[in-house]
Amino acid sequence: MSDKKKVIITGDNGDEKVSNFSQNSYFGDFKITRRDSLKLSFSAFLSTSFVMSLGNKLFAEEAQSSIPPFDFKAPAINETDFVTIPEEYQFQVFAAWGTPLNSKASDYSIQNSSEDQSMQFGMHHDGMHFFPINGNSNDGLFAINHEYIEPRFMHISHIGHKLDRHQVVITNDQRPEDEVRKEMFGHGISIARIKKNTQGKWRNIDDRKNRRISALTPMMLSGPAKGHDKLKTKYSPNGNQVIGTLNNCSHGVTPWNTYLFAEENWATYFCNRDTQLPREHARYGVRTENPRYAWEKCAEKKDEYLRFDASKRAAQAKEDFRNEPNNFGWIVEVDPFNEKYTPIKRTALGRFAHEGVIFQPPQIGKPIVCYSGDDARFEYIYKFVSSRPYYPDTASGSLLDEGVLYVAKFNEDQTGEWLPLVFGMNGLTPENGFSDQGDVLINTRTAADIVGATKMDRPEWGAVDPKTRDVYFTLTNNTHRTQDQVHPANPRANNKWGQIIKWTELNQDPTARFFNWNLFVLAGPANDSHKKTNHPLNKDNIFCCPDGLWFDSLRRLWIQTDMGEDDMNKGEHKQFGNNQMLVANPDTGEIKRFLTGPIGQEITGVVMTPDRKNLFVNIQHPGATTTPVEFSQGKINSRWPDHNTEVYPRSATIIITRKDGREI
Ligand code: FEO
Ligand code: CA
Ligand code: CA
Repeated sequence: MSDKKKVIITGDNGDEKVSNFSQNSYFGDFKITRRDSLKLSFSAFLSTSFVMSLGNKLFAEEAQSSIPPFDFKAPAINETDFVTIPEEYQFQVFAAWGTPLNSKASDYSIQNSSEDQSMQFGMHHDGMHFFPINGNSNDGLFAINHEYIEPRFMHISHIGHKLDRHQVVITNDQRPEDEVRKEMFGHGISIARIKKNTQGKWRNIDDRKNRRISALTPMMLSGPAKGHDKLKTKYSPNGNQVIGTLNNCSHGVTPWNTYLFAEENWATYFCNRDTQLPREHARYGVRTENPRYAWEKCAEKKDEYLRFDASKRAAQAKEDFRNEPNNFGWIVEVDPFNEKYTPIKRTALGRFAHEGVIFQPPQIGKPIVCYSGDDARFEYIYKFVSSRPYYPDTASGSLLDEGVLYVAKFNEDQTGEWLPLVFGMNGLTPENGFSDQGDVLINTRTAADIVGATKMDRPEWGAVDPKTRDVYFTLTNNTHRTQDQVHPANPRANNKWGQIIKWTELNQDPTARFFNWNLFVLAGPANDSHKKTNHPLNKDNIFCCPDGLWFDSLRRLWIQTDMGEDDMNKGEHKQFGNNQMLVANPDTGEIKRFLTGPIGQEITGVVMTPDRKNLFVNIQHPGATTTPVEFSQGKINSRWPDHNTEVYPRSATIIITRKDGREI
């Protein structure tokens, strides 16, 4: 490498940092011991009568379930560089990073330019959905999120340097424009028409709906924060528009068949070097220096790159980018069937590290209800209830612009309450620094602190049981929770293993202000785990760090794991092998491993075609556990899926089918 002395490497380890230093309690009304807390949280599935005696209307569990039996042999835990699935199944690799989106786009190569990347599938696949065309399970639009990028696998200039997964090479305090643009185009969403041919193989085909949405795509803002003073920038002096989306983790599908993508760990992409950070930056973890990927150091001094440094430079907000971080942290909507649709950031759903968004099945004439988790340690779970009722013929994204955003308070007695985040109520007043509802939404985390929400162990994906309307959320882990902070819903200090929480809205009414909750599973080793069946996990289902979660149309609950790169295949985490996917029966509590992934990756994103014959699963960031020294020596620890020493590992979707052609 030329002139290594001038090379600076910057980056971060990608952890979700704690930025909740609020004084609101970890508890509701009374203190309990750890033993009490464990007893309480399990009691709902140990003894329904216990819960009834608390006055809850928790539904009695069904002894029988119509969910098909899990009659496959669970793949064993392993640390191989392959995907393993039960022998009755097969898979094809699909839409690997760099796959051209149409026949005019370039094939994947490490030499690809930013323009090549702008019409290829992006990096690091996450949430996704299959939208059938005319109900066809073999022909549809495929929408997929690309959460982040790994620069060391993207640029020839990075070969030979000691680089960790988020680090970039900066020479003479500058980054080449084409590298910055390639990284920006590697983020975002891909939409492509995909078809299954007569040989049973899926491929994407040319269609004018094929498009990329990236960190450079113009978008609109809507809802109560639209036009707010705190959203005004040099790019959009009226606060109505934004350029780009970042860190799109999980997704959502609306009842009107549009695609939502969540903005999760966007805060680290920005820095603000001012002496004092406004709370809409500080409470989200915007950095005071060295933002991830250093896009603001692009050699070309254009606003689209400079905006990642949000320090004040001019007299007024509309003359600089001090408010640019406030334009991120939203849920964004796009209609995959309309290639001209400008994506819309729906501000009524709040601003935080949105993992994803999940809807209750809609009811005609009733409000729309959806849930979203804020994935950082000690953050919260939210629910949105639309003001206007749902009617299938007229439903559209505007339903997401008016309504009430609530945050969850989990009480120790397994009841819970949704606390409204409404300007003028519960302390969300000028005395506490709020000017209007838009301000409450821009500062959603601070508003939730003030109303007294319950601090959770990193809320990730949610899933709604299509029959019972019960809501399940993964709480992936939280090693920062101390003994005096344990709570029945987050019952372990130094929580390395995570849990799945479940709640039932009062009277099964999605709009209810109250709910009853219990734990569906406490993940972890055999001596520190617990299933609804009142057994610990065993060799066929041992797992930790639940993240992805999805109900299929037969009510099977799919669970995907994400042990962090710093823990995977090391120490106590070694017993869990590589990240995996399991399937659970919500009625009986049975859990069985279905799939294990290759080295260094996480499993995230799952959907089926309506005929249930094709199961799509994402393998994100294979090889991410390669150390900086190994990278500099060319010793990449995964070569999945190409298994070619000339090709870096690539995130990709796998499409699983049964060898006999029957349903999954
Ligand atoms: Fe992007 Fe919380 O996982
Ligand atoms: Ca995730
Ligand atoms: Ca995760």
